[in-house]
Amino acid sequence: MTGYRLTRLLPADHLHHALRADARSGLTGQPKRLPPKWFYDARGSELFEEITRLPEYYPTRAEREILTARAGEIAAATGARTLVELGSGSSEKTRLLLDALRAHGTLERYVPVDVSESALESAAKALIAEYPGLEVSAVLSDFTTGPVLPEEGGGPRLVVFLGGTLGNLVPAERAAFLSGLRDQLLPGDALLLGTDLVKDPAVLVAAYDDAAGVTAAFNRNLLSVLNRELDADFDPAQFAHVALWDPEQEWIEMRLRSLRAQSVKVGELGLAVNFEEGEELYTEVSAKFRRERVERELFAAGLRLSDWWTDREDRFGLSLSRPMSDASD
Ligand code: AVJ
Repeated sequence: MTGYRLTRLLPADHLHHALRADARSGLTGQPKRLPPKWFYDARGSELFEEITRLPEYYPTRAEREILTARAGEIAAATGARTLVELGSGSSEKTRLLLDALRAHGTLERYVPVDVSESALESAAKALIAEYPGLEVSAVLSDFTTGPVLPEEGGGPRLVVFLGGTLGNLVPAERAAFLSGLRDQLLPGDALLLGTDLVKDPAVLVAAYDDAAGVTAAFNRNLLSVLNRELDADFDPAQFAHVALWDPEQEWIEMRLRSLRAQSVKVGELGLAVNFEEGEELYTEVSAKFRRERVERELFAAGLRLSDWWTDREDRFGLSLSRPMSDASD
């Protein structure tokens, strides 16, 4: 591929080591838990794409509505030469921003950042074909734990983190993530952040417990990942999908509830994991925000919110923020 570069900020065996470490601590702790990033193997990514097309799962459509309406404004406000996308996935919404930046006349480079080398490569291939002259400089990195931005210039840069994925981090992780990101931004750079909003719990729960059972399959797929990667022997059919709204934390929680007492072997860890009947494995939180909270968390990380947009039904929020200079503010 011409115009494609890959910077590896992860050692080749990083993911396997990280999964082992997360499984060991998560399956021996109380309550049992696994971080949501392990949902996204090839099958999990396919299931997530299916989720985004479900009638109950509004966030993708709501965010696309905002981007469609505001991409021009975002391009004009940022004048970005480089578009950096964290957790780029299949990059569908990216095209709205690339189109707007190209029309604005500033676009030079797209920097997708993801933990999946295959996802980076296939997204890059498609984009290079669609945007002649675009330089795609992919970064293999785990943005939940490590550095995300390559060091070279190409500014101003617009860093986008879409889909509401910030909500999959708990507050302490969000604070660390946002200030780590802030420290990598230069004056003139901007952050575009998508956050799902607090709303009627019935609407929220339906989005995470759809009638067709796709989210249930997505949740259970985590067990198949452990079976394959760590030589475990989970029977996914012995776990029920649970989605509930926590009104104190204002987040949706997904869990897998053991339908009976059972012992599961995790071969690679030399571990037997015992579940009581009804015991739950915590697999994901998906925090829902109010504007004030987004603004406060950004501010605490050294980012000043400059714009806030929602869809027509106020279901989803998109914020634009900029690093505060150390002297002012
Ligand atoms: C888009 C990754 C943030 O939390 O809504 C979808 C993942 N989990 N259904 C979300 C997800 C269950 C999703 N993210």
